[in-house]
Amino acid sequence: KRQDHGLSRDLYELMDEASLYFQSQLRQHKDKQKVLDYLEFRGLSEDVIKHFGIGFAPDGWDGLLGRYRQNQTAQDKLLTAGMLIQNDSGKRYDRFRDRLMFPIRDRRGRVIGFGGRVLGDGTPKYLNSPETPIFHKGNELYGLYELKQRHRDPQHVLIVEGYMDVVALAQFGVDYAVASLGTSTTAEQFQLLVRSAKEVICCYDGDNAGREAAWRSLETALPLLKPGDQVKFMFLPQGEDPDTMVRKIGKDAFEALMQQAMQLPEFLFDTLSSTHGADKGALAKQAMALIEKVQDTVLQNILLENLSHKLGMNSSEDLKKKLGFAEKKPQPLNAKGLQGRGTPLRLAIA
Ligand code: UTP
Ligand code: MN
Ligand code: MN
Ligand code: MN
Ligand code: MN
Repeated sequence: KRQDHGLSRDLYELMDEASLYFQSQLRQHKDKQKVLDYLEFRGLSEDVIKHFGIGFAPDGWDGLLGRYRQNQTAQDKLLTAGMLIQNDSGKRYDRFRDRLMFPIRDRRGRVIGFGGRVLGDGTPKYLNSPETPIFHKGNELYGLYELKQRHRDPQHVLIVEGYMDVVALAQFGVDYAVASLGTSTTAEQFQLLVRSAKEVICCYDGDNAGREAAWRSLETALPLLKPGDQVKFMFLPQGEDPDTMVRKIGKDAFEALMQQAMQLPEFLFDTLSSTHGADKGALAKQAMALIEKVQDTVLQNILLENLSHKLGMNSSEDLKKKLGFAEKKPQPLNAKGLQGRGTPLRLAIA
């Protein structure tokens, strides 16, 4: 156990060194001009580059590795930290080559991973650190540390898809965005955010993938919500992402759009209505499947009321009768709160 602790401490140190190395290459590498040109093309300011610790991993196999030539132990740890790759014949080389580097920090500000963007076109567009002993993607949020630096007690948090979105928004003064690191937003990430801000607004890209991500987020967030929690959904015009949008319309207009974000129940029922059209039975069935997942009984009843109105009924009592649902008596949530089973509605046994 003590050894593990020592190992991860060394990993943090090496990740920090790597980050400083990438940042220094932005200032002194012979190829730095093409990177500076790319940063200018993307419109990133010096301030925001510094604030997020953005750097450059030079082309070549041993830019980072070469700094630890004489230190086998450090090399082993860099491999564990995902910064090196070892091929079948045991040869090691830098994972990140010729990429713009975004350090991912944990809540204490320690660098735990990187996202590396290709300078221009090329695949993969972003290369990310693998899972390591100190980096667990699903538990981390890019930009959360930087956000907390600026807002101790944030009113709202925007969840966006990408590194560039977080950075561009911050540059324009929307300094309360975080990104969920590639995959869709996890339950752990939602839990963390609803605990740290009054309002959580999902703002994914204005494309099909973004709209699908919003729906997946709704499904992920539903089970862990309490009545006071505000989770909203903001939809951007087709083809825009938060980065392009804030550059086009600026902070005030972006925040005005944010004010119009959809409440979760509205998004839920709008989506179901457009999916099922006039088929109220199918709508009710899918709605109930979702509402059953809600652990909090108060919120569950609010959604049931909503559903009954959608179906043209006067109250959720009519709805429950009609669908043959029986409500169990509410039980207090256990000490762990949201992790408890709660009291979901159950289908009455016929
Ligand atoms: P996008 O394709 O929307 O890229 O992916 P982006 O963030 O707008 O990037 P720019 O503006 O072209 O630079 C959204 C996020 O999905 C993850 C990254 O976290 C990215 O920011 N992603 C995307 C990857 O991890 N790998 C990829 O190859 C592509
Ligand atoms: Mn602010
Ligand atoms: Mn996208
Ligand atoms: Mn983008
Ligand atoms: Mn995007």
